[in-house]
Order: sequence, then structure tokens, then C-alpha cells
Amino acid sequence: MKKLIIILLLTLSFGAYANEEIELQSAKINNSDKDSIQRGAKHFVTYCLGCHSAKHIRYLRIAIDVNADPQKVLSDIAPEGASIYDQLHSAMNKHDAEKWFGTQPPDLSLVARSRGADWLYSYLKSYYVDTTKPLGVNNLIFKDTAMPNPLWQLQGEQHAEQRKTIYGEYTKLVINKPGTLTENEFDLFVNDLVNFLVYVGEPVQLERQRLGKYVIFFLLLFLVIAYLLKKEYWQDIH
Ligand code: HEC
Repeated sequence: MKKLIIILLLTLSFGAYANEEIELQSAKINNSDKDSIQRGAKHFVTYCLGCHSAKHIRYLRIAIDVNADPQKVLSDIAPEGASIYDQLHSAMNKHDAEKWFGTQPPDLSLVARSRGADWLYSYLKSYYVDTTKPLGVNNLIFKDTAMPNPLWQLQGEQHAEQRKTIYGEYTKLVINKPGTLTENEFDLFVNDLVNFLVYVGEPVQLERQRLGKYVIFFLLLFLVIAYLLKKEYWQDIH
């Protein structure tokens, strides 16, 4: 029995090790870059809203947080016919989704918190052609994902190549068929998208940072007052 447990633990830890071997690429998250968040919102509506919702956020809230005119957000970002008070709802029918993908595309409001920004950034960049799969593609970060590559026209087609080094073998993804964006432009595109998803995960972050400065200022001021008060009281006792 003991041996069995040890073997189980060993295989588990090896499993975890194998998963961590693929290094994630780092996203450059910047909460205060409102232009980036705005661009990301537009990318999200154009390329993801077809299947995914982000129902914890409304168009109006985005407009307020990025200091944009709500009318402009409505005309430039929201899909046609949407109201400024709408949440980012996908029009995809749940039953259709089950039929097409075998699973429902999850709501993405909190995905940046559960998966992390680097994971999202790497995931969206790691599709490659794999003709043995039903979708014709696979993903290095999320193996056998049921999601087709939503950005293939922009990125182009990637192929997986096995490279050997003295430390062992690893897989490198190489673009053989360029898309409509250059590699740098695509990186920026995905980064904006992830920046937006991080913002959606915690929209009050910007507000909190602004308020935080006042709170610290107040605490410092109060410290001085408290000190003066203490001096005043103890004066009579001495
Ligand atoms: C054609 C429909 C479709 C489109 C468009 C689409 N997705 Fe997906 N997505 C899916 C499906 C289906 C899954 C579930 C995959 C699975 O569980 O294997 C998924 C899963 C995901 C996940 C993994 C969630 C998790 O934690 O398991 C993320 C992140 C994601 N999508 C992000 C995006 C982003 C960002 C876009 C826009 C660039 C996008 N998706 C566009 C269908 C879609």
C-alpha cells in the first residue's frame, strides 16, 4: 500500500513537472494605459463576443473608466443595436455552442484572475496546425482545446517544430504563412486584449488606486494630529 502511494505521488509530481515545462510568455499589463484597454475592448467585441460573454461589465462602465464619450464607445466598440447599459453579452445560443464545440464557451469576466495574464497571452499566441485534430489546429498551452483559433487571420499559420539543445528537446512555433499583422503588431494586439481582460477582472482597480492616494494622505495627516494631541494631553500629567 505504501509503495502504491509513493508511486502515485511520484507520477503526480512528474505530471505537474511536465506541465510546467512550457514557459509562459509575459504580457505587459498596464492598468493606466487607457488607450490599450480601449483597443482591447474593441478587439474583444470583434473577435471573441461571437462566442464568449463578459457579463460582469457594461459598455457604460468601460466608457467611464477609460474616459471616453459613451456615444463613441457605443458606435466604435459595441456591436450594432447594443445599448450603452448592456452587459457584454454574446449572442451565441448555449445549445448551438454545445452542438458545435462539445462544450460551452465560458464567460470571460474573471478569466484573467483564474488563469493569469501570462497564461492568456501565451494561449492566444500558441495555436499551431495539427491536421490530426478535428479543428485542424491544436494549442501548446491548452492541449486539445475546443476553441478554434479566433485570431488566425491576423497571426497567420504556425507550425510546431521540434528543436534539440544540449538540455533536451523543446517545441518551437514558427509562422510559415504570414497573417495580416506582423509579429510585433500581433503581439501588441494580443497584449491589448489581455490588458482589457485583466481590467474586466477587476474594474474598480483604477478607482482604488486613485482613492488609495487620498487615503494615505489622510492617514499621514491624522498621524500628525494624533501626535500633537498626545503631546497636549501629556503636558498636564508631567
Ligand atoms: C468560435 C467560438 C469562439 C470564439 C470566437 C472564441 N472562443 Fe474562446 N473558447 C471557445 C470554446 C468552445 C472554449 C472552451 C474550450 C475548451 O474547454 O476546450 C473557449 C475557451 C476559451 C478560454 C479558456 C477558458 C478557460 O479558463 O478554460 C479562453 C481564455 C478563451 N476562450 C478566450 C477567448 C478570446 C480572448 C477570444 C477572442 C480573441 C475567444 N476566446 C474567441 C470558443 C470561442
